[in-house]
Amino acid sequence: MSLEITKVTARIGARVSGVDITRPLAPEEVTAIREALNVHKALVFDTGAAGELDDAGQQAFARHFGDLTTAHPTVGAVDGAPNVLPVDSERGRANHWHTDVTFVLNPPQASTLRSITVPPYGGETLIANAAAAYRDLPEPLRRLADTLWAEHTNDYDYAVPEEEIDEEKAAQRAQFTSITYRTAHPVVRVHPLTGERGLFVGGFAQRIVGLSAGESRKILDLLQAYVTRPENILRHRWAVNELVLFDNRITQHYAIDNYDGQPRRLHRVTVAGDVPVGIEGKESYSIEGDASHYTPVPAAA
Ligand SMILES: [Fe+2]
Repeated sequence: MSLEITKVTARIGARVSGVDITRPLAPEEVTAIREALNVHKALVFDTGAAGELDDAGQQAFARHFGDLTTAHPTVGAVDGAPNVLPVDSERGRANHWHTDVTFVLNPPQASTLRSITVPPYGGETLIANAAAAYRDLPEPLRRLADTLWAEHTNDYDYAVPEEEIDEEKAAQRAQFTSITYRTAHPVVRVHPLTGERGLFVGGFAQRIVGLSAGESRKILDLLQAYVTRPENILRHRWAVNELVLFDNRITQHYAIDNYDGQPRRLHRVTVAGDVPVGIEGKESYSIEGDASHYTPVPAAA
């Protein structure tokens, strides 16, 4: 079997075939997948063709790329699988643009999503290339972005209008924010493996350091519009038993809520990440909240 990479769009996304991810990978396969991830940002593996992955298999696959985080800093894991987060339509909808868990000091470097139940229509995941977004910025905006830092937090109002919050949603939200995290990250992050620059914002970025809430919103919206340009987005329509691996250092994603409340369930396993670094070499810093139970902070290089 030889590994084959097939692009899905010009700027983001590739399908990977010729590799059985239900078995331990050879080192050269891991290297090839990592190189493809660096280039394409999001990789789709059709596990249906090669057999079905289970939670243990998904964890073993993700572990090829680094240590795992636990499921989430505040949300519970799948029973018996402490590194697996259930992404279930019954427990909420991630229909907002975000990068996973950026409110902690060292967010996951990569995320894997595996489809277990998919609705008969809709339920696609959008994944955006934040490096392409950065390159799309006109020079004056790029220069501005280069100087900015943003405060990321899990404690904000989300996209849910107050009147739609019932008791169950309120309980989920209380759990999500049971520990408040606030971390300052560079708005332009340098990818540690490729040196590529990307916009590092997303839904948890709520404030530009040094600006008011209103000013921050305008700047964030302006930058975000480049991330969410259709050209920068992979729209992945799930089949059952697929696995998508995406680079959480340089992408954002969005789960479209367009399936009329039908069951949709994915399992997520994330690979622990490094502390982000801006273009001048300065590292992110924590303002509030200890996430060491979720992902230990790596020792400085
Ligand atoms: Fe996510």
